[in-house]
Amino acid sequence: MSRIGFIGTGHIAAPMARFLAARGHKVSVTRRNIDVSTELQRDIGAHVEDPQGVIDASGIVFLCLRPQVASDVLAPLSFRADQRIVSVMASVSAQQLAQLCAPASNFVQTIPLGFLENGGCPLAAYGNDSVLAELFEPENPVVKVADEAALNAHFAICAMVPGLLDLMASGAAWLGRTTGDDAGAEFYTTQFMAGFLANMDKGSAGRLAQERDDLATDGTLSLQMTETLRGHGAHDALRVALDAIGKRLET
Ligand SMILES: NC(=O)c1ccc[n+]([C@@H]2O[C@H](COP(=O)([O-])OP(=O)(O)OC[C@H]3O[C@@H](n4cnc5c(N)ncnc54)[C@H](OP(=O)(O)O)[C@@H]3O)[C@@H](O)[C@H]2O)c1
Repeated sequence: MSRIGFIGTGHIAAPMARFLAARGHKVSVTRRNIDVSTELQRDIGAHVEDPQGVIDASGIVFLCLRPQVASDVLAPLSFRADQRIVSVMASVSAQQLAQLCAPASNFVQTIPLGFLENGGCPLAAYGNDSVLAELFEPENPVVKVADEAALNAHFAICAMVPGLLDLMASGAAWLGRTTGDDAGAEFYTTQFMAGFLANMDKGSAGRLAQERDDLATDGTLSLQMTETLRGHGAHDALRVALDAIGKRLET
């Protein structure tokens, strides 16, 4: 059992806190956002403290603030050298973390999504990935990356999720207009994609292209789809978005 604290108690802190409490860890959280901290206090027995109280009570500290306030919130706080720090904050660099959290020097940066609570969320990790493995595996596999540039590239891929959801929403709306059944259309579209991906071998490079080519053979509707999307610039648009997000994370 570890004593785990969260600085910043919002959208991403809550599912992690619930996951960790369910595995027997002792969780403390900062008061803001008051709705979320009150809920965690009620549901998982989280201790609600001011930020320094959370740090003092914790061996492992999760930093879950919006990047634009991280510096102002963390700079006045005192960390300990023995603490392990997990940052989920996009675009707060390892160098900034080292300055803000000194004398703590044991860091890992990662990218959780809320569904981690139910398992199946890969955790890209730069730094001391062993703390993530200790806390979140085997339900959520840790994917170690070599440097911050690689971590930032994984952040860009996470942003593909809403991009692809948006495309799927267009597909489901198209189906719903044709059938007159919006709910059925959305169920079919999401279940089809989820079922396909759940049953795909995910381990090996080239698998996505192989699955595509197995489906999109000569004369098929699948080939018409892939060629039309490519011809109308869908892949170019995706690369432009990834490059732009990658650049934004460099600064
Ligand atoms: N959401 C995701 O799925 C996700 C995924 C991966 C990484 N992240 C990263 O996680 C971080 C947090 O994102 P989020 O979506 O969880 O944002 P969020 O819901 O806004 O959570 C941030 C929390 O910090 C609190 N806060 C603000 N100022 C504070 C202060 N001075 N002292 C203590 N707490 C303070 C906010 O309280 P108030 O609401 O009262 O301002 C809020 O509870 C970001 O850096 C983001 O890049 C998020």
